[in-house]
Amino acid sequence: MKILVMNGVNLNLTGKREKGVYGTETLEQINEKIAAFAKSNGDEVEFYQSNIEGELVNKLHEAYLNKTCQGILLNAGAFTHYSYALRDAIAAIDIPVAEVHMSNVHAREAFRHNSVLSEVCKGVVCGFGANSYIAAMVGLKR
Ligand code: DQA
Repeated sequence: MKILVMNGVNLNLTGKREKGVYGTETLEQINEKIAAFAKSNGDEVEFYQSNIEGELVNKLHEAYLNKTCQGILLNAGAFTHYSYALRDAIAAIDIPVAEVHMSNVHAREAFRHNSVLSEVCKGVVCGFGANSYIAAMVGLKR
């Protein structure tokens, strides 16, 4: 199975920002762990990060139109809480998308309790740090 792992706004600073919330591992280090896990299961991964909403939308379209993967893990960062454009893009494609968050968004500020993406995603994993991606990958696969 080919899985596209997408990270949105500010996730490129993982390991460098708000370390008490997101930990000290960089996105590159997290991606290495995801890739190793995927490989051990015979799966293939592609990584994509952008701080630009429209680029994330384009990547979802590309995955759908060019059939580049069978599942998508998406940590949209703060876009999760207000991007109807990303929501519509997820609804438009026939690839299952798992919403991922490293932190437990429900234990944080009120504005993080609502996701405009969850309703159109296959499932949601939050609160397990980098392992949220791994748990979501297991869920998507099974
Ligand atoms: C996040 C949670 C979001 O609320 C926040 O805006 C992020 C990261 C997470 O992985 O916990 O940037 O998606």
